[in-house]
Amino acid sequence: MIQVKDRHFEVMVSAEQLQKDIAVLAARINEDYAGKEPLFVAVLNGAFMFTADLLKMVTIPCEVTFVKVASYEGMSSTGQVEEILGLEADLTNRHIIILEDIVDTGLTMTELLRNLRDFRPASVEVATLLLKPECLKFPLSIKYVAREIPNIFVLGFGLDYDGFGRNTRELYCLAAPEIKVQSELNIL
Ligand code: IMP
Repeated sequence: MIQVKDRHFEVMVSAEQLQKDIAVLAARINEDYAGKEPLFVAVLNGAFMFTADLLKMVTIPCEVTFVKVASYEGMSSTGQVEEILGLEADLTNRHIIILEDIVDTGLTMTELLRNLRDFRPASVEVATLLLKPECLKFPLSIKYVAREIPNIFVLGFGLDYDGFGRNTRELYCLAAPEIKVQSELNIL
């Protein structure tokens, strides 16, 4: 059990299991993208740890670049997607793989895909560490999902609660008593 700001969290997925999940995904990408020299577009801040670990297991020639998008504050979605920042690479005719920490409602990814397609890439796929299938509100086809999780607030391995808690090797979720509080407050 750890405390981050005013909340308690417990381990949901161990560090070892996360690495196994990522290795499966990397193996698929190595096979699917052989000879294609993909360009990974990692979404900051949350995807930094997933990106670092995934790319250590990607053995084919590739490039990586980083963009910033924000649609979340605290524990509930603001429903607003801010501007996409920092896209410097030339995407034209490239095979793009977007790297995201978590797809929740799918709003962030929908906006990002819409923006990136304007650059006329050869192909675009999404690789996400986590997917909350129950929460999807936008029709999205996500080719690479390392792990599906229920509708519960998670933290660690790059994901934050109000900016804190990103720096763990494991994935944490709200401790059981807190989940009850959250659902009563209707903020999840
Ligand atoms: P979406 O636009 O609703 O799919 O939300 C995507 C973004 O919300 C992610 O990139 C995360 O930054 C954030 N997010 C969604 N669920 C969680 C969570 O359980 N913990 C921490 N951040 C989350």
